[in-house]
Amino acid sequence: MSDALVRVADLTFGYPGAKQPVFRGLDLNIAEGEFVALVGGSGVGKSTLLRNVAGLVPATSGRIQFARPCSAGRRDTAFVFQDTRLLPWRRVRANVGYGLTGLKLSADERHARIDETLRLTAMTDYGDRWPHAVSGGQAQRVGLARALAVRPRLLLMDEPFSAVDALTRQHLQDQLIEIWQRLGMAVLFVTHDIEEAAYLADRVCVMRGSPAEIVHDETVAMRHPRNRNDNDFRRFTQRVANQL
Ligand SMILES: Nc1ncnc2c1ncn2[C@@H]1O[C@H](COP(=O)(O)OP(=O)(O)OP(=O)(O)O)[C@@H](O)[C@H]1O
Ligand SMILES: [Mg+2]
Repeated sequence: MSDALVRVADLTFGYPGAKQPVFRGLDLNIAEGEFVALVGGSGVGKSTLLRNVAGLVPATSGRIQFARPCSAGRRDTAFVFQDTRLLPWRRVRANVGYGLTGLKLSADERHARIDETLRLTAMTDYGDRWPHAVSGGQAQRVGLARALAVRPRLLLMDEPFSAVDALTRQHLQDQLIEIWQRLGMAVLFVTHDIEEAAYLADRVCVMRGSPAEIVHDETVAMRHPRNRNDNDFRRFTQRVANQL
């Protein structure tokens, strides 16, 4: 793949003191703007892989390479967590701007970036609220906005919608698709929910084994917006489920 944004090659990672690595010799390429979903059983190493790609923990061996240096005012990656991890002593606006420190933006640019990101996530009216005074779905949008504020080339999402109710979850999924189509960043999205993976992603990868590998990697050929009741959709989710 010549237009890969990020190449993960021969990646091995083990936690200190563990008998064996979480994964060994793992390969994964993600193209510019590509939306990749990663599914796999609990404890297989999905969050660990995301932390490796984000550079939060160093790989034991192997490579994680981004194409070209990142342009000014952006970062290679940003993380969205299941439990949002907002700073409770900062208002929504300040939470969204949190990652911008160190990005060499002028004060005007920083404010404009925050405003635009609040608009993108439909949170403009909530900028002055405290995190405890927004709903679970809104808090998740603030977490997403904080990540998007740095305009990451690759957005890393670790089960971001699994703590909200089913209807809110569907709204958040549709909102994410819209934002992704607008901003054009690549996404690596971890979920337990195969339907969610098939609804959102260009490609679904299945991680399995110990040490884990990517045992299945399939393109989702359906256009957006996708219909969860469609026969092709169901066949796809069934195929992926058989790989788990
Ligand atoms: N800080 C840590 N120190 C030691 N071992 C860890 C640490 N974090 C995770 N592990 C172990 O590494 C393995 C992979 O964990 P990881 O959290 O990446 O799995 P996961 O696929 O994200 O699981 P889940 O779907 O439950 O979130 C597990 O066996 C886990 O117990
Ligand atoms: Mg996890």
